[in-house]
Amino acid sequence: MSYNLLKGKKGIIFGALNEQSIAWKVAERAVEEGAEIVLTNTAVAIRLGDLNALGEKLGATVVPADATSPEDLENVFKTAMDVFGGPVDFVLHSIGMSPNVRKGKPYDGLDYKMLQTTLDISAISFHKLLQKAKELDAIAQGGSVVALSYVAAQRTFLGYGDMADAKSLLESIARSFGYYYGREKGVRINTVSQSPTMTTAGSGVSGMTDLLDFAEDISPLGNADADDCADYCISLFSDLTRKVTMQNLFNDGGFSSMGMSLEAMDAFVKGRQKH
Ligand SMILES: NC(=O)c1ccc[n+]([C@@H]2O[C@H](COP(=O)([O-])OP(=O)(O)OC[C@H]3O[C@@H](n4cnc5c(N)ncnc54)[C@H](O)[C@@H]3O)[C@@H](O)[C@H]2O)c1
Repeated sequence: MSYNLLKGKKGIIFGALNEQSIAWKVAERAVEEGAEIVLTNTAVAIRLGDLNALGEKLGATVVPADATSPEDLENVFKTAMDVFGGPVDFVLHSIGMSPNVRKGKPYDGLDYKMLQTTLDISAISFHKLLQKAKELDAIAQGGSVVALSYVAAQRTFLGYGDMADAKSLLESIARSFGYYYGREKGVRINTVSQSPTMTTAGSGVSGMTDLLDFAEDISPLGNADADDCADYCISLFSDLTRKVTMQNLFNDGGFSSMGMSLEAMDAFVKGRQKH
């Protein structure tokens, strides 16, 4: 159902790879709510994924860009401003990748070159994106920027490796940049901390299926899926959240506030009785 929450607004969506991607769902919902968008991902992701098909379906221009490259980011913002004839109103950063996690390196056996790549792609790219947007004045007064995070930024999760450090940095960048961009240009910056979700990035985390089941059992409302995340992002891009900034906002069915649930306790007791 559409509420026309983004009627007349223009946005850029980073990170839609395929139909499972959270950014894919956000792109679809944004257009459904009346927005015009530009889509971007790396050249490789565009070649291997389905972004061009999404662009055709939504009438959106697709711009290749490596989010770690300030030159590529400049091209994305300049292209979007050309397409829209002015600055954008919202941006989604839905980007994450860890070579350490991909290669199964444990947290106490990290490859430091890979750690640099993890941090650059998954967190510092957010700073680069914001710095470039501010330099080009590419986001309109009152605009909204959202990046996607995970609760491993606050608490330790087996298998999430150096992505936990990347998410902590990502959330810190949202807070710090939120001050400068808010004060000078009225732009708000938040992170949405999403439930585990079965996507290409999500399935790279070891034990993802069990983690999904565990989170589902613990959360009173159950896991938030990619569609739930898209709805929440739309509310943050809309004018209904004008004074929300510098926050890490949980979209996780209550998981982050739980200690122990009946379902999880039952599973624990059954497991103990077996031994
Ligand atoms: N899936 C989950 O369980 C989960 C939970 C919480 C947060 N998140 C976060 O949501 C975001 C989106 O992930 P997803 O789960 O939709 O998976 P996804 O694999 O569909 O999306 C990750 C995207 O990052 C892009 N990317 C990687 N390197 C890039 C680079 N150098 N420049 C530009 N783009 C690059 C990929 O091409 C891909 O489109 C990520 O930040 C992820 O950490 C995911």
